[in-house]
Amino acid sequence: MDAKLRIEELVKLLNDANYNYFVLDNPTITDQEYDKYLRELINLEEKYPEYAQVDSPSKRVGGEVIDKFNKITHKIPMLSLGNVFNEDEVRDFDARIRKAGINPEYVCELKIDGLSVSLIYEHGILKSGATRGDGVVGEDITHNVKTIKAIPLKINRDIDIEVRGEIYMDKETLTKLNRERELEGLPLLQNVRNAAAGSVRQLDSKIAAKRNLNNWIYHLPNPLDYGIDKHMDALSFMKDLGFKVNSNNRLVKNIDEVIDFINEYTEKRDSIPYEIDGIVIKVNDIHEQQELGFTAKYPKWATAYKFIASEVLTKLTDIIFTVGRTGKITPNAVLEPVLVAGSTVARATLHNEDFVNSLGLMIGDVVSIHKAGDVIPEVTGTKKERRTGVEKPFQMISECPICGTKLIKKEGQVDHYCPNQNCPARGIEALIHFASRDAMNIDGLGDEIIEDFFNEGFLTKITDFYHLKEHEDDILVLEGFGRKSFDNMLTALENSKHNSLEKLLFGLGIPGIGSKTAKLLAEYFGNIDNLMHASVEELLSIKDIGDILAENIYNYFRNNQNLIYELKMLDINMNYLGVKKKTNEFITGKKFVMTGAISFMSRDEIKALIEEYSGTFSESVSKKTDVVIVGENPGSKYDKAKELGITIWNEEMFKNIIDKL
Ligand code: IVH
Repeated sequence: MDAKLRIEELVKLLNDANYNYFVLDNPTITDQEYDKYLRELINLEEKYPEYAQVDSPSKRVGGEVIDKFNKITHKIPMLSLGNVFNEDEVRDFDARIRKAGINPEYVCELKIDGLSVSLIYEHGILKSGATRGDGVVGEDITHNVKTIKAIPLKINRDIDIEVRGEIYMDKETLTKLNRERELEGLPLLQNVRNAAAGSVRQLDSKIAAKRNLNNWIYHLPNPLDYGIDKHMDALSFMKDLGFKVNSNNRLVKNIDEVIDFINEYTEKRDSIPYEIDGIVIKVNDIHEQQELGFTAKYPKWATAYKFIASEVLTKLTDIIFTVGRTGKITPNAVLEPVLVAGSTVARATLHNEDFVNSLGLMIGDVVSIHKAGDVIPEVTGTKKERRTGVEKPFQMISECPICGTKLIKKEGQVDHYCPNQNCPARGIEALIHFASRDAMNIDGLGDEIIEDFFNEGFLTKITDFYHLKEHEDDILVLEGFGRKSFDNMLTALENSKHNSLEKLLFGLGIPGIGSKTAKLLAEYFGNIDNLMHASVEELLSIKDIGDILAENIYNYFRNNQNLIYELKMLDINMNYLGVKKKTNEFITGKKFVMTGAISFMSRDEIKALIEEYSGTFSESVSKKTDVVIVGENPGSKYDKAKELGITIWNEEMFKNIIDKL
């Protein structure tokens, strides 16, 4: 038989066998047969390299070695999910969606414990695989992804598509691997997630190939582009393309059915051959998803219910009280240090008096602590039967532990507050907040230094930051504070004067104003004067600003006019700089070249847009070019870009990016 035909036949036969075995879990040929055909294929490919196919299973054995991980910028950021931990919180998630006027159907999915991956196919061929990284930029792990047999090298349609899912290791694979490692005297891998993550972060793909990694696909970032407007349809679509899609996924009508699903899989969890650490709940309708949108970090249309990870017992040695920036008093558990889910826990918040009483805690009790994943530890209960009689009852304090002022508790609320505006504890917390990264970002002024300066009397209110220079002599004699750190601090303070308005707004600590709302206000009002003069009605007309927030903002500026005036006199910028200096993760700081014509924008308009976002636009392609925009009838720049392996945006991708500006 003709070698070319035989190669094609073997590729098809082996890929089908692969798909049946790894994706459908339904073997059609024996391992011996598979190996025999694969050897035949490899021999033929060696003899006739010109006939080797892009989707040849011989590519899966590994062998490609890279010298470093290249970065891949995700076309759409890869977001993580918010967490919920109990039925009430699941119902709160549903309530928030209903409040937005949506009556959703949900898709429940298993939350696979591995690491997320983005896969890009062009003309149906796997082009790249990338880790999530920080969500915007991930690492190129294509060489290792190709070794994962559940991931198709070629899909069933000749289309461009990105899909996302989880790379993971089956429980049994980890057990076997650790048995081998033990025999070889190698350190054991802690859990399936570390094992999977460690495997894809190998430069030599032979190692990943041996690790028997697996994959589930659960997310299609751009469903509407394929005429799909239901998540459940996106899942079947991806399944039909040849991806491994989990058959436990279930479309449900309401939140009660979500809870049933959670209960069902809490039971089944241990009998599933791979590790799951929770249940993911997603709104099924893509239009509803879009309506709900995102917070700064998470989609509002999905959440992860996390199984309680582990529970350990330790001794509650004391309960101490701290005072927050708003004067809120928090009781904190002081614990005998104990290891929970991989880290040592010695403190845990007890939220408020009611929380402590509802658990019936006594000082000296043996208490249970739980921690799910990387989440904050919580005290979940007490072992009354282990009391010895020396335990002391918990007593809520009635005076501020710092300034002695009598605490107040508003009617109907659970928290106690120190009402003293000048309480030192409140002062310190407010100062720390002002200098923090998302606020004024004053480098070199960590929490402890701020506390020291506060105690020395150099810092009592936020305007004092900008008078620290006047304490130069006193500061320089403080332990651990040299000339260099002093100068660095002054530079950081100077720099902070040029921050865009939202950083100041966040730093002021206006009750209820997080960094996202601060940005919203800064963008809307443009400068602080407009904001200070805004009426409650005007504030309410802004999307996402409700009654309480509007009142808070209004009152804050009525009561703090002097402070704002003093800050102005210190030359602190009070304008929103976003308009002048627009940024975009895909454009800012990047070098662009364009070739061919884009249908909806002229070359000059594109150049102006890129420059507006602080990107550079140049005429010729070089190694330094980051992106080549390719339109209709491209010239030789296109070939050069391909040759140099430069990122190419076609019209559709370019449109996607500018649509979101
Ligand atoms: S959906 C915008 N579905 O859990 C949608 N994530 O804690 C993003 N994960 O980063 C993800 N199973 O790595 C989704 N069925 C599932 C998942 C899942 C596991 C992981 C994923 C994500 C993390 C969030």
